[in-house]
Order: sequence, then structure tokens, then C-alpha cells
Amino acid sequence: MGSLETPTGSGPSAGNGKSTSVDAAEAPPEPDMSKRRRSSVLPLEVGTRVMCRWRDSKYHPVKVIERRKVSNAIPGDYEYYVHYTEFNRRLDEWVKLDQLDLDSVEAVVDEKVEEKGASGLKMTRHQKRKIDETHVEGHEELDAASLREHEEFTKVKNIATIELGRYEIETWYFSPFPPEYNDCLRLYFCEFCLNFMKRKEQLQRHMRKCDLKHPPGDEIYRSGTLSMFEVDGKKNKVYGQNLCYLAKLFLDHKTLYYDVDLFLFYVLCECDDRGCHMVGYFSKEKHSEESYNLACILTLPPYQRKGYGKFLIAFSYELSKKEGKVGTPERPLSDLGLLSYRGYWTRVLLDILKKHKGNISIKELSDMTAIKAEDILTTLQSLELIQYRKGQHVICADPKVLDRHLKAAGRGGLDVDVSKLIWTPYKEQS
Ligand code: ACO
Ligand code: ZN
Repeated sequence: MGSLETPTGSGPSAGNGKSTSVDAAEAPPEPDMSKRRRSSVLPLEVGTRVMCRWRDSKYHPVKVIERRKVSNAIPGDYEYYVHYTEFNRRLDEWVKLDQLDLDSVEAVVDEKVEEKGASGLKMTRHQKRKIDETHVEGHEELDAASLREHEEFTKVKNIATIELGRYEIETWYFSPFPPEYNDCLRLYFCEFCLNFMKRKEQLQRHMRKCDLKHPPGDEIYRSGTLSMFEVDGKKNKVYGQNLCYLAKLFLDHKTLYYDVDLFLFYVLCECDDRGCHMVGYFSKEKHSEESYNLACILTLPPYQRKGYGKFLIAFSYELSKKEGKVGTPERPLSDLGLLSYRGYWTRVLLDILKKHKGNISIKELSDMTAIKAEDILTTLQSLELIQYRKGQHVICADPKVLDRHLKAAGRGGLDVDVSKLIWTPYKEQS
């Protein structure tokens, strides 16, 4: 479901077709030699780089991340889990041998091969705890050893597909579901309480009993068919944990946090007469020392590229305005997260600059939008709208340049109607 294309336009360049064609044209291998060479590289080692036929029927460079035996009867009958080196990790997948161009095998082994079979994802309790303890921490916060450990245990997607409401959704990344779910490729979620099950019949039985028709917690916004619910992780622990398991399937380099007590979850729903169907969410720390106003954000793949992401971002800033604070998203941002934030910041800031004919300071922009000054500065710098004069940053806003940038910034996203937001900032209840 959803667009799985690489978003940054870094698709394979023309020269990256089937790379062997050049070599083959210069020195076609003897058929016998080629055969011998092929069998001598099999089974491929983890770490091997080779060309692989993708869903666009073209060949792209991949690195073998893992391998598993398909059949014990046929020696050397393996399939391979590959990472397309030009694409985001969400496109990693299991491929069959006939998708690989063995003549293009480049280099072998930078990792030790381990025979793990299909369920080679089991973590020791220690490893699992280490990952669990490192809440939503990204690259830079993990030391090298923890990062290696994290990547080792998250390198192969465990759940391939989920069913949620009326959607069947292909997952993007590993998510550390409890060990009893290690043996299943598909999970069935109740779209309201987010409990997950291994079998469809279990879900059907559950749906007859489950009396939720919307996320637990308070509805703090309703405009047309769109609603936002605020769920307190402390009051709805299981829901919070289920949401984290679900979200991790689409978030890389974020590790799960079971202590959901410290977070509020803002769940966006499309409502109809069957209930409120989750579209996406963002989480927010109840108290953030780093002025984060958003920890994780997700739009479920069937709903992506429709403006919901920018709605969620705008919503997070509306909450900050009500708190009288500036805010910023927790780092690191994913590729799609960065694109969405850049688009949002550009549009919001340039609209104001246009209205004020550029006559406004970064501090004033920050006060009006609740966007942290650093984010304003980097956004305007990346658009080359900032000059450094006499030790000060000065905004240079030529109306024509602003219009050009606004056009390039894409659509605005769905609007938040602030008059429909009924909310007071979180206060710890004694
Ligand atoms: N290809 C190219 N550009 C894209 C893509 C894509 N697949 N997806 C989003 N964008 C860009 C576009 O510029 C788009 O604006 P446009 O449609 O006007 O051109 C903009 O991002 C946002 O579009 P929206 O429709 O408002 O956002 P969406 O509902 O798709 O949600 C989100 C964006 C939340 C980042 C979504 O892609 C997602 O859930 N991704 C997986 C989880 C993730 O990466 N979350 C961010 C992690 S960082 C953090 O949590 C702090
Ligand atoms: Zn339920």
C-alpha cells in the first residue's frame, strides 16, 4: 500500500542498469566458465554486492543482508534478503535467486554468515532490554556498539503485512513484537483498540466483543469528518504500547518505548457511521527539556500524500501555541519526515514573509508560529533568504523569489481549524 518509491528522487541513474552488459559486451564469458563461476559463488554470502531485478523490472545494485534456506531437499537452495543501496531501507525485501544477476557478483563478505533460518530474529533478553531502554533514540544518540546491535536485530523485517480496518498494508521495517509473534508474517489489528492477533478468526471474534469505536481518551478536535483524540499513555498503557508496535513497522531508527506513561498520543481519525478510523498520529512527551513538541509522527501508508502529515505537524504547533511555547520535532528526522517538515516550515514562513513584505525578524516569526528559531533559520538559509550583515542575520524577501519558493513547496496540507480545538495543556494530576 502507499507509495513505496524512493522519495528523494535518488532513483537509479541511467548508468545503473544491468551493469554487466558493458563487461559482457567487452569480453563475453565462455558459457562453461560462466556456469562454473555462478555455481562457485553460490550460496551467496551475507555482504555480497550484486545486481537484482526490482519491481520496475530493472536491475539495481543490492547488498545481501541475510539468507535463508528455501528447501532442505535441494542443496544451495536459498533466498536472500537484500538492501537496495540506492533506496531507503523500507524497500529491503526477500528475493529469489532468479532475480539476481550472478555475473555481477562484486565482493563478498563483510559480515559473518549465520544460519538462522526464517526466524533468525530472536533477541536475547539482554539485547531486547537494551533496545527497549533506548527510547526513540536515533543514530547520534546510540554508541557505535549499540547501533550495530540495533541494526543486527532489526535488519530483517519480521512482519511483512498487517491488516488494519479495511486495509492490508505492507510494512516497512522491523518492529520488536513479543517473541510469541516471531513465527508470523502477517498480523491482524483491531483498528480501534489496536490489539493484534495472529489469525483472522481471532480478530473476527475480537471484533464481536470489542466495544471501542474510536481511540480511548478525549476527542479534542472535530471538523467535518476529521477528529483528533488525545490518549494519555499512563491511563491507556496497552493502547499506547500497541500503537508503538504498530508505528515502529513504519519508523526506522526509532526504538520502542514501553514506558508509555510519559507520553501523550494524538490520534487522527476519519469518522463515519462505523466509527473513527485511525489515519495517523503523533506522540508528545508530557515534559520535554529539549522543547520537543513531537516525538514520533506517522501517517499510515494508505493515507499518505494526502496532506494528513502536514495537518499533524500543524496540529503539534497549534498545541505549542496554546502552551505559549516554541517547539521542534525530536531528531533524527526520517527522509519523509524531513521532507514534510521542510514543506510545512517553508509554506508557513513564506506566507507570513509575503504578508509582511519581509519586514519581520526571526524572533517575531517564531512567536507567531511556535516554530523554534533554529528551524526558521535553517529553513530560510536553505532557501537562500538569509544574509549575514554586520553580525546579524537579515531576511531578504524579494516577492518574486518568495512566490517561486512557495510554488516549489508543494501543497499546503489539510488545514487545522483552530476554533474547533478544545484543549488545555497537560498538567500532572496529583
Ligand atoms: N515521496 C515524495 N515526497 C513525499 C513522500 C513520498 N513518498 N511522502 C511525503 N512526501 C513529501 C511531499 O513533499 C509531501 O508534500 P506534497 O504531497 O504536497 O508534495 C510532504 O512530504 C508531506 O505530505 P503529507 O501528505 O502532508 O504527509 P503524509 O501524510 O504523507 O505524512 C509522514 C508524512 C508522516 C512523514 C509519512 O510519510 C510517514 O508516516 N512516514 C513514515 C514514518 C516517518 O518517517 N515519520 C517521520 C519520522 S521523524 C519523527 O517522527 C520526528
Ligand atoms: Zn478492539
